[in-house]
Amino acid sequence: MNGHDNASKENGHSNGEHFVVDPLNYDDIVRVAQTIESLLTINEKPTVGIICGSGLGDLADRVTEAQIVPYSQIPGFPKTSVIGHKGNLVFGKLRGKSVICLQGRFHPYEHAMNLALCSMPVRIMHLLGVKTLIVSNAAGGINEKFQYGDLMLLKDHIFLPALAGFSPLVGANDPRFGQRFVSVHDAYDIKLRKMALKIAEEQQIRVHEGIYVMSGGPQYESPAEVQLFKTVGADALGMSTCHEVTVARQCGIQVLGFSLITNIANLDADNSVEVSHEEVLETAKEASQRACAFVSEIIANI
Ligand code: HPA
Repeated sequence: MNGHDNASKENGHSNGEHFVVDPLNYDDIVRVAQTIESLLTINEKPTVGIICGSGLGDLADRVTEAQIVPYSQIPGFPKTSVIGHKGNLVFGKLRGKSVICLQGRFHPYEHAMNLALCSMPVRIMHLLGVKTLIVSNAAGGINEKFQYGDLMLLKDHIFLPALAGFSPLVGANDPRFGQRFVSVHDAYDIKLRKMALKIAEEQQIRVHEGIYVMSGGPQYESPAEVQLFKTVGADALGMSTCHEVTVARQCGIQVLGFSLITNIANLDADNSVEVSHEEVLETAKEASQRACAFVSEIIANI
């Protein structure tokens, strides 16, 4: 048994049923997807998946004909433990599209760096019919032009844990999930980005494009680490998203990603301020309506 087997045992909801999911096992993932389908009364398959990071949690409130499936009702589904993240799948309609919202994501630091487990919801979304994934996150701004509450569309990423071997694609590969060697040269769909930028202009909101770096966390980065990321071209940093996007690309889902800049990352140890989760949540709350209106319009235009 390896560490990942342990993690899935610890994290899987049992719901009275004994079911340990191996996130690398295709049949296990199919079984979880089928369980979810059996709990639904909706007829239409969701085509748009949304991973609601901090600031986008309220988007699910805009879903009509909503059907909420708490993670705790899905045997084998991981648990979320981060304050500010609910634990629900929300199915329904948003601006005419059939959607599924992941209200609460799985961060690798919560799950012993088991990235395959943390990306499992994306594979499930794929099996349920999703063709477009919108991912959002809270992030620290590195680019000096960024201000609190700005949005940044991801045009590329630096997936730091994967460069150190922590990729969701490491381990046995079942070709039914997709290719072994996945190209991420166009991970963030250019047409979707252009459309989103146009909407930002119409809504007169501050939206940049930039490069997101994912660190492992959960500690926030030291000023020297932020300086390192700045040197290699990163504009914003966070602890999520890249694993989900990598898996989405493996199964052929097109992706639009954006960060909500909740704090300004420290670059100088002599001139730095404490970064706190409360601050991140506070900024996310303030920007929430703006971010939700932005995403809602994007969905209408997909
Ligand atoms: N670093 C990492 N993750 C984050 C930050 C940050 O500064 N802000 C919000 N999420």
